[in-house]
Amino acid sequence: MSSNLTSSASIPLAEFRSALTQATASVCSLHHFSAGRRQRVSAKPASNMKTPKRILPLVEEGLVDQVMRQLMSGKEATVYVVRCGEEIRCAKVYKDANERSFHQAVAYQEGRRVKNSRQARAMEKGSRYGRKMAEEVWQNAEVDALYRLAAAGVRVPTPYICFEGVLLMELLTDADGNAAPRLNDVPLTHELALDYHARLLRQVVLMLLAGVIHGDLSEYNILVDADGPVIIDLPQAVDAAGSSVAASMLERDVTALANFFSTVAPELAGSQYGNEIWALYEAGLLSVDYPLTGRVAAPTAPADVGAVLREIELAAEETEEREEERRRRQTETAL
Ligand SMILES: Nc1ncnc2c1ncn2[C@@H]1O[C@H](COP(=O)(O)OP(=O)(O)OP(=O)(O)O)[C@@H](O)[C@H]1O
Ligand SMILES: [Mg+2]
Repeated sequence: MSSNLTSSASIPLAEFRSALTQATASVCSLHHFSAGRRQRVSAKPASNMKTPKRILPLVEEGLVDQVMRQLMSGKEATVYVVRCGEEIRCAKVYKDANERSFHQAVAYQEGRRVKNSRQARAMEKGSRYGRKMAEEVWQNAEVDALYRLAAAGVRVPTPYICFEGVLLMELLTDADGNAAPRLNDVPLTHELALDYHARLLRQVVLMLLAGVIHGDLSEYNILVDADGPVIIDLPQAVDAAGSSVAASMLERDVTALANFFSTVAPELAGSQYGNEIWALYEAGLLSVDYPLTGRVAAPTAPADVGAVLREIELAAEETEEREEERRRRQTETAL
């Protein structure tokens, strides 16, 4: 591949493919979008790229043919662009628990399903076995959620497999075939902000109907591919039915969306879509086409104090009348 591929923007997928067929993959550069600016993450020639140790088991199993380059390294994982046969995919390599925040991971354990009570006890105790179990639960949670959500029609990257702590999934791309940018790095008009907000709320509803709450939804965990917003990064996803924190997590996710989009569409500030969606879900009324308003019904009207006082007066009068009647009868009996 010629050096003109090291130009300003990300490398189009089409160019990756043509480079592969020529079997001369050399210098290319995928750019990672971060904190509002395009950030170049790697300029190493792909042909010189040593297969990262963690991806070797996938190469040995024939799941991956070549690691093209590192796409980015985040808090919890490093993401690589890989070739699997003719396909360009991405491989998310989870960091060890002690590299990411293990405590944070544990905070999300509630609502997760573990295979048996021995595992649950070990995870609670934090033994080595327990940590290994917690790691597996953490890593599998993302692929489980992705499968469940993809089946429910939610816009997430297509998962392929999670093997030895590496998740193989679809590489999301923009209209030009470049690695899809984060929502945070996409210029928004007022109209686009409202459109994306509505589309994402629909995704949140679809997810909830599939029993999943993201738990860390933000403009950094949403990519914008050629067809619009796609939700990523789900290892902390929680089971809507099995978690006491489900309602607050949903509320937090939905508020994060409103806060982000309200910088361009101020009318979204203060909306209460999260509470509204949860109330409908709990009442068994939620559907993907339910017309959401962003408002929740006000608590029932305050008591009519005047009416209450009148009730009290009437009760007092009745008591007085009964008392009078009792005294009259007593007098009659005495006579
Ligand atoms: N399927 C995908 N297609 C394209 N790019 C992806 C995909 N998955 C992840 N990425 C890229 O890798 C980045 C990190 O992925 P992810 O958010 O899943 O990991 P993370 O470790 O939680 O990262 P962070 O700490 O930045 O949130 C994303 O912001 C995105 O740029
Ligand atoms: Mg992330």
